[in-house]
Amino acid sequence: MGAPSGGLLAACLLLAAAGLAAAASHTLADLYPFVALITSREVPLCSGALVAPRLVLTTAACARSDPAFVYLGYYNFFLDEFRREGRYEVRKVEHVEVQPEYSPSDTNQNNLALLRLNKDSKHKPVAVADSSFAYPLNSTAVRALGYGSLSADGFFPQLHVDDLQLLPQEECGGLQTAYGRWWAATPPDGGPAPQACTGLSHAFRACASGNAGGPLLLPRAAPGGGPLQLGLLTSGFSCSTDRAVASASSPALYTWLPRYADWLAQKVRAEADAGSD
Ligand SMILES: *[C@@H]1O[C@H](CO)[C@@H](O)[C@H](O)[C@H]1NC(C)=O
Repeated sequence: MGAPSGGLLAACLLLAAAGLAAAASHTLADLYPFVALITSREVPLCSGALVAPRLVLTTAACARSDPAFVYLGYYNFFLDEFRREGRYEVRKVEHVEVQPEYSPSDTNQNNLALLRLNKDSKHKPVAVADSSFAYPLNSTAVRALGYGSLSADGFFPQLHVDDLQLLPQEECGGLQTAYGRWWAATPPDGGPAPQACTGLSHAFRACASGNAGGPLLLPRAAPGGGPLQLGLLTSGFSCSTDRAVASASSPALYTWLPRYADWLAQKVRAEADAGSD
């Protein structure tokens, strides 16, 4: 993660103004209180989503970087303490469960993990697409949320959102090849392909570490009309260290959750059973 810069300070002042205006009305964090900011003891690490009262879904890569705290319903790093007291929660990470097929040598595959919190969240968990959920049509409108930087690696101190278009699953492979990455077209067990991808973003940097693990949502698709989580961001396609290149929009790659729905459901059930003892 990059060190704070003069640009960050300017962004903070702007955000302070934006935050004051937003405090009176509903912020993004009030609309999507299940989005999680995950931090180590010292610094922000990545984003995630509450999928059960005590379980937060994020990338395996993030779960392996010693996450210590989860902020839920959190909007602005500088103002929430003063303006949104009682509307966000801070929980400790009690246990980390990385998806057993994940290997750190290939972060494209099986990149997901669950963090167990020390205490239930009061926020409503997001609904996650189940294993029978079919990959939506080309160009379906989806939303991504996270706390990643808007211009470089690292963080933006306010939750933000972008509206994106889903690309066909078979194009995720071609795109990865075009960007020089290895791609497994079908998983060894012949199940649904393990990834989703989106086209160019406007405000959402898929390469920013702060966005990793952030939820990819299909609006109004859950029972009851809420958002349905389809994926979680694992990376962008052109994550160059050259600032000019890195700040450009890039297609993004996500873990496709229906592929892992059975594993997830089993973990959520086990947690519910433990909770009712
Ligand atoms: C998906 O849609 C985009 C434009 O919306 C188009 O350029 C692309 O060719 C489409 N891909 C397929 C496989 O239909």
